[in-house]
Amino acid sequence: MTSIKSVAVLTSGGDAPGMNAAIRAVVRACIYYNLKVFGIKRGYQGLIDDDMEELQSNSVSNIIQSGGTFLKSARSMDFRTEKGRKNAITNLKKRGIDALVVIGGDGTFTGARIFGEEHHFPIVGIPGTIDNDLYGTDYTIGYDTALNTVVEAVDKIRDTATAHSRLFFIEVMGRDAGFLALRSGIASGAEAILVPEVKTDFDQLEHFLQTGFSKKKTSSIVLVSEGDEIGGALKIAEQVGKEHPEYDVRVTILGHLQRGGSPSAFDRVIASRMGISAVEALLDNQEDVMVGLTNNQVVLTPFSEALKNKKPLNPQLLEITKILSI
Ligand code: F6P
Repeated sequence: MTSIKSVAVLTSGGDAPGMNAAIRAVVRACIYYNLKVFGIKRGYQGLIDDDMEELQSNSVSNIIQSGGTFLKSARSMDFRTEKGRKNAITNLKKRGIDALVVIGGDGTFTGARIFGEEHHFPIVGIPGTIDNDLYGTDYTIGYDTALNTVVEAVDKIRDTATAHSRLFFIEVMGRDAGFLALRSGIASGAEAILVPEVKTDFDQLEHFLQTGFSKKKTSSIVLVSEGDEIGGALKIAEQVGKEHPEYDVRVTILGHLQRGGSPSAFDRVIASRMGISAVEALLDNQEDVMVGLTNNQVVLTPFSEALKNKKPLNPQLLEITKILSI
């Protein structure tokens, strides 16, 4: 039997489409299981500032379709300090809150792990980031929507690339991981995909582009992860342009438009499943774990493991890009 009677939920770090669907699921699951539920504003900062309110079922009506996070998000510097975390626990105790659900990425879970250990407070995490770079889950909330956004944008850029026989370098988000670049590159028929996980061989890229143009390709698109070690699309384009003045080179940095927009059906569904599973995990006395989906099954991974391990890119996807772009 659990002693949990009251739960609080927050979103922290970079926002991702589907976070609202996850909050909604947490709130409705709490109400379903007769728990009180609080929404904390601006991530861990709101916890420190005591900026929270009790939520009802209708507090989360009509948000499943909206991007961003109605609880707002932040990367709290105060929560990195012992003093900040002490204020946070004081506020939780004052309000009679017994457990936390945190929605975010690795920064969010690092904070959760430290706080949970320091104050023996039950926390369950839900992975929400467009980067999809969390170990312990096949998909993070927001990744699918961002993928579709990128593909739509690349399709449009392809029109111009073809009309002018141009070479485009398109930069997508992914500070440390190439999931977004790899999958969107395959889906949009990119000629080459550069990801942080694979060392970029400049000569090979050059050779590849030359072969493409000599075969009378009417356009070339190279998708570049922002975390690529050469230094992003601008740097690579500059280098290629210098060596090959014959190419008509352009750069597009997709930037934060990748984080916005209405979540896809896929993201809404996984967010709903994960939100409910997080509450059920707390009721099952689980703590310091992240809810994830592996092979379409809900799995729990300790924060320590999720943070220690790096999720690898699918080697088969890396392989097929070589075949597809000849
Ligand atoms: O966390 C996701 C992410 O999209 C990264 O890929 C990117 O580097 C980062 O957020 C940028 O976030 P912000 O502009 O909020 O600092």
